Amino acid sequence: MSATPEAAHALESPSAWVARWAPLVPATCAVLDVACGGGRHARYFAARGHAVEAVDRDSAALAGLAGASNVTTRCADIEAAAWPYAGRTFGAIVVTNYLHRPLFPHLLAALAPGGVLIYETFALGNERYGRPANPDFLLKPGELLDVVRGVCRVVAYEDVAVEQPRPAMVQRLCALRAA
Ligand SMILES: C[S@@+](CC[C@H](N)C(=O)[O-])C[C@H]1O[C@@H](n2cnc3c(N)ncnc32)[C@H](O)[C@@H]1O
Repeated sequence: MSATPEAAHALESPSAWVARWAPLVPATCAVLDVACGGGRHARYFAARGHAVEAVDRDSAALAGLAGASNVTTRCADIEAAAWPYAGRTFGAIVVTNYLHRPLFPHLLAALAPGGVLIYETFALGNERYGRPANPDFLLKPGELLDVVRGVCRVVAYEDVAVEQPRPAMVQRLCALRAA
């Protein structure tokens, strides 16, 4: 079944969670959009004046970002190949609707002092609503808190059922790395 036009639009719009915390991202800093897909958050942060690096393995999805100002795309398999940003840091890292746990240390290492991590993806319980239902792709209770503990200050955290853009169980976090 295809999404309604309203639902499709909502999926292309920035996540409300990302938009809520974007003002914490230091002005002029570079932003990394991990597993960016069609690049809704890459576009959003570029429009806010940030230089954005957007990475995904799907070249067709990245093609939609071709020519977008302030956005550099990188086509890479960030699970099968080496982390492509070794040695680089960003003022903000955004991850939505994507989970590959071995990347957590790389994400933290790529977060500059004072940088903001904004993460939102599906959580255990989502199997009630559909996919993803595989626990490999569902955060456990408190898991994002565990990831940043001792490294970042948690600004906000939720583990909730949402209705928009579609019914789902999500976990989401905004955290600041110590300056
Ligand atoms: C559900 S989409 C989310 C896209 C975007 N973050 C958003 O919320 O709009 C998941 C994305 O993860 C990307 N992805 C999955 N496995 C990947 C991998 N091994 N390396 C890079 N990207 C991957 C997919 O190509 C897809 O674009």
